[in-house]
Amino acid sequence: MIDFYPIARPVMFRMDPERAHRLTVMGLKTGLMPCGPVVSDPALKVALWGRHFPNPVGLAAGFDKNAEVIGPMLRFGFGFVEIGTVTPKPQHGNPKPRIFRAPNQEAVINAMGFPNEGVIKFKENLQKFLGRKPRPAGIVGLNIGMNKSQTEPVKDYRALVQQLAPLADYLTINISSPNTPGLRDLQEPKHLKALLEQVIEERNKACKIDPPPLLLKLAPDLSENQQGAIAETVLNSGVDGLILTNTTLDRPDTIPSDFAAQKGGLSGVPLREKSTAVIASFYKLTGGKVPIIGVGGISSGADAYEKIKAGASLVQLYSALVFRGPDVVQAINKDILEYLKQDGFSHVSEAVGQSHAPGAKKNSQNNRRAKAAKGL
Ligand SMILES: Cc1cc2nc3c(=O)[nH]c(=O)nc-3n(C[C@H](O)[C@H](O)[C@H](O)COP(=O)(O)O)c2cc1C
Repeated sequence: MIDFYPIARPVMFRMDPERAHRLTVMGLKTGLMPCGPVVSDPALKVALWGRHFPNPVGLAAGFDKNAEVIGPMLRFGFGFVEIGTVTPKPQHGNPKPRIFRAPNQEAVINAMGFPNEGVIKFKENLQKFLGRKPRPAGIVGLNIGMNKSQTEPVKDYRALVQQLAPLADYLTINISSPNTPGLRDLQEPKHLKALLEQVIEERNKACKIDPPPLLLKLAPDLSENQQGAIAETVLNSGVDGLILTNTTLDRPDTIPSDFAAQKGGLSGVPLREKSTAVIASFYKLTGGKVPIIGVGGISSGADAYEKIKAGASLVQLYSALVFRGPDVVQAINKDILEYLKQDGFSHVSEAVGQSHAPGAKKNSQNNRRAKAAKGL
């Protein structure tokens, strides 16, 4: 198995988080990072949108913003990797420091503001990966956003869809990062409807055959009314899936006050329950008709399974990689298999949305987490 992380972690945690991340990406690019055997089981393979995911656990957007380390991340055992957020033009993002960790709470606050090298470089890197023969197993989603300087967001999304749709296994429209002024306003139904119409038209123009599914990534900070209005827009728009959720602007009492005072979006363990609640809510609002990728505070199989039962067909993580290292991917997949067996399911798709089934045990998730914490 991979055993370098316990050695690397204390060194990295003494560094500025962004520097540690950059060094990690550079290390991954060498291709020399050790990785152990990958969990592979028919019960974990997910067929969705005509795509075949080797397992339901993916890498969330933001880790590989410039499409530099798709292959190495898939080799750690992720069933899919979402790269980006990419914007049309390169941009520096917000002033540094802009990533903060709270190791005891396994939480991160980031105020990155989409720093990235722009779509030309992104496309070049992605094409290098896609050109490998045979292409490594695993699905690659492309997450797109607007430049900070853009006053007409639709233009950026259209341009990115036009350039990237032919290369995408799926496309994510990111309108939920809290660090680009005005971005979250695109979640308002009036703006959202117009954006989706244009983006879907552009996607269908760019890909006449087998257009990639179009997913919408939403914030956890939405009122019930907002969720209802968005769900209605989504159901009427032709959006293929939802990614729930991005980081939160909330600052729960469980995090230290100096950390809480940092600007940006909170991710990791303190986001977990909130994002699960949003998944459950959208699953109900859409009648389970719109597949969901669940993300937010997943660091164990119990966390992933909880999101699946709340309605997620697939899950993603980012922050847990920082605190637990890449072994977490295998551990989660192994545990999902175990939970499926315990619940009498032969395939992960059977567990999707089960917490909404009549008679579902409300406390079973908490019991499962308590048992997992005790190593039972
Ligand atoms: C440092 C950092 C950068 C991120 N950048 C992006 C991004 O560029 N685009 C995006 O859609 N989400 C981004 N995210 C949000 C994650 O994709 C994910 O939705 C969120 O962190 C919740 O998952 P987690 O608790 O497993 O980290 C970022 C998260 C972190 C911690």
